[in-house]
Parts: sequence; structure tokens; C-alpha cells
Amino acid sequence: MLRLPRVGRAAGRSLFLPPRAQASPGGSRLGPAQTKPWVVPASCSCPLRWYRAAGLPGGAQPQPQPHVVDLRSETVTRPSAQMRQAMARAEVGDDDYGEDPTVNELQDSAAKLLGMEAALFVPTVTMANLIAVMCHCRRRGAQLLLGREAHLHVFEQGGVAQVAGVHSQVLQDLPDGTMDLCEMESTIREGYGSRYHPRLELVCLENTHSSAGGRVLPLAYLREVRLLADRYGLRIHLDGARLMNAAVAQGVSPAQITHHCDSVSICFSKGLGAPAGALLAGHGEFVAEAWRMRKLLGGGMRQAGVLAAAARVGLECMEETLRRDHENARSFAQGVWELGSPICSIDPSAVETNMVLVKVAGRWLSPGELCELMQLSWVKSLFVRCQKVKKTQTHKHHPILETY
Ligand SMILES: Cc1ncc(COP(=O)(O)O)c(C=O)c1O
Repeated sequence: MLRLPRVGRAAGRSLFLPPRAQASPGGSRLGPAQTKPWVVPASCSCPLRWYRAAGLPGGAQPQPQPHVVDLRSETVTRPSAQMRQAMARAEVGDDDYGEDPTVNELQDSAAKLLGMEAALFVPTVTMANLIAVMCHCRRRGAQLLLGREAHLHVFEQGGVAQVAGVHSQVLQDLPDGTMDLCEMESTIREGYGSRYHPRLELVCLENTHSSAGGRVLPLAYLREVRLLADRYGLRIHLDGARLMNAAVAQGVSPAQITHHCDSVSICFSKGLGAPAGALLAGHGEFVAEAWRMRKLLGGGMRQAGVLAAAARVGLECMEETLRRDHENARSFAQGVWELGSPICSIDPSAVETNMVLVKVAGRWLSPGELCELMQLSWVKSLFVRCQKVKKTQTHKHHPILETY
């Protein structure tokens, strides 16, 4: 369980104490408590002061070191005991020959869960997404449409251009992770049938949407995008790295979400807690082609059953695990909101899954400086994001991803 940060007021200024956390029963998600002393930023011109518990003004008694929850990402995890046992016991074979029974079983059961004909186990979602684009966009110079903030567009080394020779047309993502449907249609229509434009073949969506703070795409929106795609003969790939978070948050089966898509990638090494692995699912022919693309990218593995076994446990436990993550994120958001901090603010109603976006008011300190302060204390942050939000002016976002 995550304990919320406590706040007090001292001499007219905010006093922040660090978030404290206890290990979850498995204890598998927690990093070791850090012993680095807190640094009181004497030169800091803002009212924010961080104090090490042992150094509280007024001679307060030293307190025991708390456990620390690493909030950078839900990827900062350790396989649970159950996963490790499953890995140790996994029956394996050479998956390159299609002979790893644990991989085969995972692919079959995941395909069913996703309502797809077939699925392919791959090392990462980055690879799954790239393979999907390569399979959907067979002609060099084809075009895909996606959000400007999509992970596939921003954080995957432009693989679709570098490797697949596919051009990206981007639309602005809305705060809820969707794209404006009118804008989408007018963009599609602009180049439709034109020999002057690249051929648009694919729309990529992301659910949950990570840059938007883990927002879940509404099913009605997915239905509309499907109708639009069908009208113009386009296919839809869903980057579902956190699809299971979306399903749990909406209380629907994953297949009800993927029903609107031609292919989907899911990740086992995020909220599901496995050490590695992802999956790409779609119709049979698509997955047969995907197998070739995985080979091309060097993603074929041998006794991958040891990884598939952990992924299987992640899938079996996902409902409980993700529900708990979401509750933790909500509690955390509520706690930060209740602080009423002049620096960090939060919209609790935007916390739908396992991420919390904190707006950092730039008057006293930038998100980057806040991250530095936090880094000096016990809480780590995503510096990548800090670089990005620094570019905007006043209200800046910084995501905190909940782990368990
Ligand atoms: C939405 C989304 N898609 C894809 C990825 C890439 O996943 P992987 O690290 O497995 O390549 C991430 C990673 O954080 C992600 O958040």
C-alpha cells in the first residue's frame, strides 16, 4: 500500500515530507531504500524545502528508514515469486522452429483473450509496433496517421521511417488521448486518391495513452475511428502496451477494445510485471507475415518459454494487479491534490489508470529542478519528460508512473 505524503505548514511556508511506502505483500516492486542524505536546497528561492526525517527542525527524533516506491515507471519491477517459479518450471523448446510449448500456449491464449486469430511473442512493444507497421504498409513511401505524442512517433527511434520507409502524418493529441475526428477525416480526405500525396494506409492509436497520463480511449471513439478507417480503406493498429490497464479501467474484456482494430501490440513487462516480452496479434496471414518481419529484425528467440511463462502469470494476475495499481495511483493523486501545493497540482479526475500527471508551476521551480530535488531525496523521476515540459511556459506536466 502506498502511504501518502504528509504536509504541514511551518513558518508560513509549505513543508513537504516524502511519500512513504510499504512493500506490497510480494514486495517485488520496491527498490531498496536509499541512504543518500536529503539535501536542503538552501539556495532555492522557492518555499519548497525538503527535509530528511532525521534532520527535522526542532530536534525531532530520527525515524526508521521508510521503504521506497520507485515511481519512475511500472517497468521498474521484479518478477514475483510465482513468476520465478513458473519460469523455472517452464517447458521449453526452440521457438524458432515453433517448438516452444510455453510460447505456443501463451500465443494461443493471448490471441483468444484479444479476440484475434493469432499472436506472435516478441521481445518488446517497440518491435511489435514496428512489425505491425511493416506488415500493414507494404509499399515503400506509404503513410501512417498517428498522434504527435504517440509513443510510436516520439520514442521509438522513428523506426517506421528508418526501417520501414513509412512516412508519418501526425495529428495533435487531445488531453484525453484521442484525436479530433473531424481533423482526422479532413486530413485523410486531403490526400485521398491524390497522386501528389503519400498513400495513407494505416492509423495507429495508443490505449492507454501514455503522454496523456494513462487516459483510456472511449469505446465510442474507437468505433468512430473504425468507421472512418473503413470509409477510406485504412487499417488500424493499436499500440496497446497498456491495453490491459484500459480493459480493467473500463470493466470490459480486452477483445471488446481490440474489436475495432486490425492488430494490437501488448506488453508483458509493464503493469503485468514480467521481466520481458510483448505480443503482436492480428489475423492469421498478418501474423504469418509478422513472423518474417520478426526474423528480419532479429527478434526470433529460442527457448523463450522461460519468458512466456512469466508473461502468462502476468496475464493471469492482471485483473488484481492492475486494479491495485489504479487504486494506488488514485490515492497518490488525491494525496497530492489535498496538499494544495502552490507548486504541484493535479487533476484527480484525469487519473484513470496507473499514471499521475503532476503540473509543476514554473514560477518557483521548473519540472527539471523539481526532479533534481526529488532525485536528491528518495523519489526518482523521468528526466526525459522534464526536458520536454521545460519547453512549455507556465504549467508543465510531469508524469509519475505508479508501480506496485
Ligand atoms: C505506449 C507505449 N508503447 C510502446 C512502448 C515501448 O515498449 P517497449 O519498451 O516494450 O519497447 C512503451 C514503453 O513505455 C509505451 O509506453
